[in-house]
Amino acid sequence: MCGIIGYTGKNNAVPYLLQGLHKLEYRGYDSAGIALIDESGISVIKRKGKVSVLEEAVTEGFSATTGIGHTRWATHGEPSQLNAHPHLSENGMFAVVHNGIIENCDKIKSDLRKDGYSFLSDTDTEVISQLLEKNYKGDPLACLKETAASLEGSFAVAVIHRDFPGTILCAKKSSPLIVARGEEGFFVFSDTLAAQNRISSYYLLSDGELALVTKDKADFFSEDGKPISKVPHYISSSTASSDKGDFPHYMLKEIYEQPKALKDTLSAYIKDGDVIFPNFNPTEKELKAIDRIHLVACGSAYHAALCAKYIFTQLSSLDTSAHIASEFRYEKTVLSKNSLVVIISQSGETADSLAALLLAKAEGAKTLAIVNVKNSAIALKADYVIYTQAGAEISVATTKAYICQLAVLYMLAYFISDKTEYIHSRFFPDILSLPRLAEKELSQNENALSAAELLKNSEHIYFIGRNTDYALSMEGALKMKEISYIHCEAYPAGELKHGTISLIEKGTPVIAVCLREDIFKKTLSAIKEVKARGAYVIAITTDKLKSNLTDCDFVIASGSEQSDIFTPFVGAVPLQLMSYYTALKRGCDIDKPRNLAKSVTVE
Ligand code: AGP
Repeated sequence: MCGIIGYTGKNNAVPYLLQGLHKLEYRGYDSAGIALIDESGISVIKRKGKVSVLEEAVTEGFSATTGIGHTRWATHGEPSQLNAHPHLSENGMFAVVHNGIIENCDKIKSDLRKDGYSFLSDTDTEVISQLLEKNYKGDPLACLKETAASLEGSFAVAVIHRDFPGTILCAKKSSPLIVARGEEGFFVFSDTLAAQNRISSYYLLSDGELALVTKDKADFFSEDGKPISKVPHYISSSTASSDKGDFPHYMLKEIYEQPKALKDTLSAYIKDGDVIFPNFNPTEKELKAIDRIHLVACGSAYHAALCAKYIFTQLSSLDTSAHIASEFRYEKTVLSKNSLVVIISQSGETADSLAALLLAKAEGAKTLAIVNVKNSAIALKADYVIYTQAGAEISVATTKAYICQLAVLYMLAYFISDKTEYIHSRFFPDILSLPRLAEKELSQNENALSAAELLKNSEHIYFIGRNTDYALSMEGALKMKEISYIHCEAYPAGELKHGTISLIEKGTPVIAVCLREDIFKKTLSAIKEVKARGAYVIAITTDKLKSNLTDCDFVIASGSEQSDIFTPFVGAVPLQLMSYYTALKRGCDIDKPRNLAKSVTVE
């Protein structure tokens, strides 16, 4: 995904654009650029690399009261200055910034070439700027409406026209775009984080809608160009600060915010010893009619789903499956009105997860979204929504949102269960202790630092575990590889001997997640098998079990007062810290890992 920002008002736009692009860099950071407009026309500065590279190129004299900016995660065309946004149309009439993918860009490009247009970049976005120029007949809004109607795929675009210096035009389909009032003018952006301390109210554009924004007002239009009125939203004062504070990285800050994030998430839905979801309130009959649950997500959210699959089966005895969203559409999963499809997504904008949601709705299934970003596309499209209360999560590697997704899924499993006295007694003491448990795990800092010292020069690391320990080892492997760039693989501990164990040789690091007492002996066998072949084993376990792990080379042991099903909340923090410190020792860019973006809004 990419980050878009625009400002038109009484003040100089440049500081707002550059500061906003820094805030949006988590959305993509291959390249960045800004376009300004005044009576003399449109001027563009863009650079390959991070926003700081662009900032150095922006000279003092470069200022205007209207401008647009963009930070890119490349989809069409390599990261380069030429492919960076904004993109100008041939005669310099339009400048465009875009987030999304234009799926019919090749067809449009070939038609435009036949009309004599040429292209400087390899991007799909340049097609938009050239098409605008071709369609322009004097009314920029009518031109944008006609152009947007011919685009297939996903787009959030902000456009400026040479002859209208105080105006920004917007169009939106599938990718997020927000118009906000603030600082003696108006902003447009992909995420309120871009200027949340500068705005008072904001409007969410819906698919097909257009906006015409000037320094005094924002007008909104439907897909057919009719004026519409929109309800403003307001920034909640409790919105978590999006600054790093004293932390060196957002990731470490967000790891340390987990106790509070868990507390906020649990207190939002646990009332008087019961679980209540304000926006998921099926009748008893509807609840009993659910005969299958499908948990669907990508990346870490999928790992939360994988873990929760075991919990649903144990607590609610409902047939539950976990699906990778990008695969879900091909699995031809049998869905019916009695299926509950749960889409889990931190950003609520992940294209694969949104596509899975739309498929489930088309098949008549009930859909429930568990998301962290309010009013995100997935939240708005699902039948029901439960928000994690993790607060803004900036680091590309998710931590607090992941653990809150787990907490909501555990509460959902209880909510759907028969809620017998036995289940209640097994569930409530532990769920309520999670914030304290996470707080306690933060004390694993030193152990995680030591483990990082042992791992920092590895080429390959294997993570193993069984049941929820396996689901957690999947998340541990992803955290490690996405920020330290060390190749990691997670394997069901029992599966290792069916092939992958051939890769184990002297000194191969293996992280054994063995937190569950009920299957500990089985994982211990796998540890012995890899040790026999020379592996270097680091165990993630509990105080209760550590004495049995004398074969291991390094042991990180934590709390043991919780029951087996809650052990993922014990191991998550040490695994996150171990990845963080390994990446730190390797000099990696922890908050903005190469090739990644915070949310992948392309399929
Ligand atoms: C997790 O650390 C990664 N950044 C990535 O796997 C992420 O979980 C995945 O892209 C899903 O994002 P979402 O939760 O916003 O849908």
